[in-house]
Amino acid sequence: MKLLHVDSSILSADSVSRTIGTAIVERMRQAAPGLEVLSRDLAAEPLPHLSLANLASDHPIAAAHGFSQDVSAARTASQDALQEFLDADIVVIGAPMYNFTISSQLKAWIDRIIAPGKTFRYGEKGPEGLAGEKRVIIVVTRGGFYGAGTPMAAAEHAETYLRLVFGFIGVTNPEIIIAEGVQMGPGQRAVALQGGLEAAAHLRAA
Ligand SMILES: Cc1cc2nc3c(=O)[nH]c(=O)nc-3n(C[C@H](O)[C@H](O)[C@H](O)COP(=O)(O)O)c2cc1C
Repeated sequence: MKLLHVDSSILSADSVSRTIGTAIVERMRQAAPGLEVLSRDLAAEPLPHLSLANLASDHPIAAAHGFSQDVSAARTASQDALQEFLDADIVVIGAPMYNFTISSQLKAWIDRIIAPGKTFRYGEKGPEGLAGEKRVIIVVTRGGFYGAGTPMAAAEHAETYLRLVFGFIGVTNPEIIIAEGVQMGPGQRAVALQGGLEAAAHLRAA
């Protein structure tokens, strides 16, 4: 069994999403000895913005532009990111909220994994997700509070976006742990971190 661990916080050791994500990976590792874990740190090694020059060679748009045979390093890097996702049984994602949505680093990764013919396709009934067999666990961290009924609820475009995008590729029920209010003082930060770690400890074992 394979687990892909994706981090996107620009903070390192101090990051709440990294701390909770690491706890999740450890829990899965203990539950499934022999679990193969691959880590991709999008802050340490960012993928560039998606462009025609770095679309995977077998992407229909690259093919339409005559790039099917082009296996340049930029295209290979995109293909590798997609393949890691396709190969994974479990995907753990750290997703801090930056400016009301996910980080641009995580968006660049999502731009690689939403791949026609690989993770979704359009059929007669509209779009069909092809990645529904995967278990996706997402840690969303936020400086403020965005829950239902709060004044900032309408500004939440991180969790809502991730639910939509993973639903689109067939992962209709991602497991989402939310640690919020992280910037509302050390006490609330500790509460949010502790709550996230407890939720991680109660996740279904791999
Ligand atoms: C560049 C930047 C932008 C941020 N924008 C928001 C925001 O729009 N809303 C919010 O609630 N918190 C915001 N925050 C706070 C983070 O979401 C919060 O600190 C979270 O804990 C970050 O996750 P991490 O600890 O894993 O890095 C921002 C933080 C940074 C560094």
